[in-house]
Amino acid sequence: MPLLTIQNNGKTFEVETGKSLLSALLAAGESILHKCDGKAECGSCHIAVTAGRKTLSKTQRAENEKLDGIVGVSSNSRLACQAMMGTENITVELLSFV
Ligand code: FES
Repeated sequence: MPLLTIQNNGKTFEVETGKSLLSALLAAGESILHKCDGKAECGSCHIAVTAGRKTLSKTQRAENEKLDGIVGVSSNSRLACQAMMGTENITVELLSFV
């Protein structure tokens, strides 16, 4: 299975292809905000994908529209609830990491 690495704390774990990054992060015990429970409505699960971005599922319209309204968005930005794991390893930065 491909690996997800969290840049903030160096943790790495396996994630099943097709699983959302939000559910993978929550399952791994990471505290990541997810106020709308994965409906692409709140933007609180905003993350930056710093490596392997191309392996993730394509950004859909609802995600794009939500990202457009978020301050600090970059070309690496994704909503963790909308990005599905691909077949290659990725590294993410949790932007609400404390
Ligand atoms: S949990 Fe609300 S946009 Fe992802």
